[in-house]
Amino acid sequence: MYRLLFRQVLRRLDAETVHHRTVRGLALLARTPLLKRVLHRALAPHDPALRITAFGVHFPGPLGLAAGFDKDAACAEAVAALGFSHVEVGTITAHAQPGNPRPRLFRLVRERAVVNRMGFNNAGAPAAARRLRRTRGIPAVVGVNIGKTKVVPESEATADYVTSAKELAPLADYLVVNVSSPNTPGLRDLQAVSLLRPLLTAVKEVCDGTPRRTPLLVKIAPDLADEDIDAVADLALELGLDGIIATNTTIAHDGPTGGLSGRPLKARSLEVLRRLRARVGDRLTLVSVGGVEDVDDVWERLLAGATLVQGYTGWIYGGPLWASRIHRQLSRRVRLHRLSSITDIIGRTASP
Ligand SMILES: Cc1cc2nc3c(=O)[nH]c(=O)nc-3n(C[C@H](O)[C@H](O)[C@H](O)COP(=O)(O)O)c2cc1C
Repeated sequence: MYRLLFRQVLRRLDAETVHHRTVRGLALLARTPLLKRVLHRALAPHDPALRITAFGVHFPGPLGLAAGFDKDAACAEAVAALGFSHVEVGTITAHAQPGNPRPRLFRLVRERAVVNRMGFNNAGAPAAARRLRRTRGIPAVVGVNIGKTKVVPESEATADYVTSAKELAPLADYLVVNVSSPNTPGLRDLQAVSLLRPLLTAVKEVCDGTPRRTPLLVKIAPDLADEDIDAVADLALELGLDGIIATNTTIAHDGPTGGLSGRPLKARSLEVLRRLRARVGDRLTLVSVGGVEDVDDVWERLLAGATLVQGYTGWIYGGPLWASRIHRQLSRRVRLHRLSSITDIIGRTASP
């Protein structure tokens, strides 16, 4: 049904227009408590065997929505009602900004991929905080992903992230420092340990000062050299971070300028996960994202050492019930393997 709708209608429309209409529809749903609760009951993961606790937060299942869809925290609860175990909102910057000129979002349908150069279009941290403060009608785990305001120079990047963290960390189930999007000039340079150490130290201080001690993760690019991945992993351990999200989109492609996501990213994303797991074992929570399309991909990431998995492009091509379907299939697979908990498979194929 969704495949037909996608082939006949959606793919003919401008990708960003479809995106905004979807967010608007879901924002409306988020403000309709009864429907939201009905959908949540029908579609969210409720199987106790899928429950995962990571950095002190309880997730009803492993598969969440990656950052970039709900940039302004407008519809996170509606997304959770559709079957995602968690929703990462953002990237949110300290100051509102329009992002790059359109067109800036491109579907590569044959490759099951997307290229985007959105450039952190968002209404800014105070506006997101107002939305996050609204009471939640259903249980929804909401992570908040923060980035650098474009006009802020690199020398003031830490202060800019700290402004966002102060506003948003108290409202987040976990906070993510995004230093890996390819569409803000210079942002990925912040992955160098010499720049990343003061940045993460300062943001961590804010997180540690919130009433619930907000967990802090860092999100990295797939284009880092292997030794740089190790260096970020070592730094995360040294600073006592809670986890690493790997990976963001890649610039290693020949399509339109921007970051590539979806199927072509799958192999590298898995490779980065394996490298991280070999480096840190289970001392950090690893969240794997990039090219996840189906239940086999989620299973493979868990086996390779991810505690949580995220997807975005897979949802675009898989349709609104994508996450709900995968969680149902995971439940069946857990029973088939006679496991009492899906957590039993985490890291099983990781090298010791
Ligand atoms: C349209 C679009 C916008 C995105 N915006 C963000 C963003 O603002 N912040 C971020 O950390 N990642 C962003 N991402 C990256 C995703 O969160 C994810 O890391 C990446 O797409 C790989 O996962 P996927 O292959 O499942 O899409 C965006 C991805 C897409 C497709």
